[in-house]
This record gives sequence, C-alpha cells and structure tokens, in this order.
Amino acid sequence: MINLTVVDREGKPHELEGPTFMDLNVMELCKAYGLPVEGTCGGMALCASCHLYILSNHGLSPASNDEENMLDQAFFVQPNSRLGCQIHLHTGLDGLVVQLAKE
Ligand code: FES
Repeated sequence: MINLTVVDREGKPHELEGPTFMDLNVMELCKAYGLPVEGTCGGMALCASCHLYILSNHGLSPASNDEENMLDQAFFVQPNSRLGCQIHLHTGLDGLVVQLAKE
C-alpha cells in the first residue's frame, strides 16, 4: 500500500491509501474515496476530467502522446499538469501529493 495526498478544489487535503498490486490509477483511487473526479472516459486519456497538478517531487514517467494531446485541449493547464488516469500506483509514488484541477 502507498499513501497519497489529494488536495481538492477547495484546497482541502485528503489522505488516501492505495494498493500497488491492482494496477489502479490515481483517478480510480480518487473515485473510490468519493472525491469529485469524474473519469468520464474510463481512463482512456480522452476526456481530461481527471486533470490534476503534481505538487510533490516524484519522478513520474513522461506523459504519453495521447496524454499530451488531451492536455493540449484541457483548460487551466500548467507545467505540472497530468491526467490522473495515466498515473498508475506503484511503490515509487508513496507520498505523492496532487491537486485536482479546476473543472
Ligand atoms: Fe478521461 Fe482520465 S479519465 S482522461
């Protein structure tokens, strides 16, 4: 299990615990905790409803072309923007801090 902090759109931090053996992604974990992340496309990098900002210093794998293309069409994009559905939980992400982007 790893621990993540997800800051919601009101600035409130939520401590989440997620398993690393189920190939879950951050979008799915947020939904499991009832956080307001729609995940409309089901994690296909086609909707940007899971857009978030990486606040901690974790070395994430680079965004795929599909993720980059989707972020190109999203609003409020920043250099630390990622799609939560494209970030799969693994032990290297323990302590990850993210903030949900505005809708
Ligand atoms: Fe649609 Fe992530 S859930 S892009």
